[in-house]
Amino acid sequence: MSNGLARACANIALVKYWGKRDVALNLPAAGSLSLTLGALTTTTAVRFDASIEADELMLDGRQVATDRLSPWLDLVRKQAGIDHRAQVTSVNDFPTSAGLASSASAYAALAVAASAAAGLELSKVELSALARRGSGSAARSIFGGFAEMGDEFARPLEDPTSWDLRMVIAIAGRSGPKAFSSRDAMEHCAETSPLYKGWLASVPTDLKAARAAVKAHDLEALGAVMQHSALAMHAAALASRPPVRYWRPATLAILDCVEAIDGAYYTMDAGPHVKVLTETANADAVASKLRKVDGVSHVIVSGPGGPAELISAG
Ligand code: PMV
Repeated sequence: MSNGLARACANIALVKYWGKRDVALNLPAAGSLSLTLGALTTTTAVRFDASIEADELMLDGRQVATDRLSPWLDLVRKQAGIDHRAQVTSVNDFPTSAGLASSASAYAALAVAASAAAGLELSKVELSALARRGSGSAARSIFGGFAEMGDEFARPLEDPTSWDLRMVIAIAGRSGPKAFSSRDAMEHCAETSPLYKGWLASVPTDLKAARAAVKAHDLEALGAVMQHSALAMHAAALASRPPVRYWRPATLAILDCVEAIDGAYYTMDAGPHVKVLTETANADAVASKLRKVDGVSHVIVSGPGGPAELISAG
């Protein structure tokens, strides 16, 4: 076996992951809880071949550097006992590196495709741990619906079809590469922000509340936790030296808009865009309000997504 083709969905954290306890192993300093999104997917093909001289990566039709990918592929090669270089072709159906969690779907799809191409038969938990080595949030994208990250891997919390929810994503301004990658920013924040410790101390309480809210299908309770978690993460980031500020004027305008809508709750990641959780019956009304906000260029409505899946191998 040397080929693998897989698809994975992005996920949005409702209780954020922000900081590591082990940088080399990419282990998080605290847990996190997310919703996998069906409308944001990455499809990735991996081929290991003796005739390939160096690892190659094509992302959305463009050749890109493999300095982050190759050490990760080495983990797969080591585990499978193979030495071949790989050709990786990956396509996102949403803007790459714009704070829409492209590394989550990317490394989840990679873990499934590369392990199959290398002849490994990994369990979901092993795939989640492997995806984590590429990107912490990717560990959660192995699972559909709500997932909770522990230390080494994530676990599914709730069937994606069991709660009728939508995530309405408001793209704040032009999409494009963000100023600070989440990877660099969270380390910088842990090293320099006086608020980092307070942020970290708040995570277990938020996780417990979010877990209970998901179980009870209590959107109001989940909304309060997700907004708190996002604001606490961004507060810690803002207090870094030099500061890490992802928000644009449109970001704040969207928050104002969401706060005035009943049953709609926001979160933001390492970018200016805002993701709004609401019941499906409310999603179109929320989307049309967000489209009218100054500086919003685009709105995407997504339902929950399923687990990462292997499309073919051979
Ligand atoms: O997976 P990484 O290393 O790109 O970190 C993700 C960080 C956030 O998206 C801001 C939060 C999260 O839990 O996904």
